[in-house]
Amino acid sequence: MSYQVIIPAAGSGKRMGAGFNKLRLELAGSPIILHTLHVFISDPECSKIILVIDSRDQQFFEELLTRNLTKVELVYGGSERQYSVYNGLQVADQNGIILVHDGARPFITHATIKTLVETASMSGAAIAAVPVKDTIKRVEGLEVVETLERSSLWQVQTPQAFRFSVLHEAHKKARDENFLGTDEASLVERIGYPVKIVESDYDNIKLTTPEDLFFANAILEKRQR
Ligand code: C5P
Repeated sequence: MSYQVIIPAAGSGKRMGAGFNKLRLELAGSPIILHTLHVFISDPECSKIILVIDSRDQQFFEELLTRNLTKVELVYGGSERQYSVYNGLQVADQNGIILVHDGARPFITHATIKTLVETASMSGAAIAAVPVKDTIKRVEGLEVVETLERSSLWQVQTPQAFRFSVLHEAHKKARDENFLGTDEASLVERIGYPVKIVESDYDNIKLTTPEDLFFANAILEKRQR
């Protein structure tokens, strides 16, 4: 089943501490963003890739596109991830299934994407997630307020998949009401729409801080074995 994807890649990557967009850092000789893009370029069901970038990285991305990267369209992002995705939505085809996937998650698999697309096409909204392994506590001022019931907690990732109309309505309401969420599903929940979970892999990490590069190299090595 065909789908389009928005890939926000316009962050500054402050927590990585590289001094430039972390998606330009290399893993096995290629920029992180190229690993992520290749997953979608090599998927025949993906009809369009909307890559959201910061103008500071324009030259880097334009050079990247000269490497015959099919289906990729560049759009400029905003000051927050949510605004970057909103800008991507403006150039999307206004029907069918749309995915949002962080440029910083290069290890997403075709199998998870396929299940997400199928689930979103049946129910409107589906997100990749894994069960939480650790005990999670709510804390205020370094003092525990509450221990959350682990069996009902899931760690949410991307891709997050939606019927275009659902994601569009959710983003419009968030924008009208100045609500800023940390993922698309939180905006969709606000319009009262049910969001389904698709169990993903623990490998689908977001490269955020320097030690994540160590884990990323280990995952690559494991996959090449
Ligand atoms: O900072 P973090 O890793 O949580 O960002 C998730 C994704 O959102 C990254 O791929 C980053 O490039 C992107 N992003 C964006 N626009 C922003 C902030 C983040 O496209 N203003």
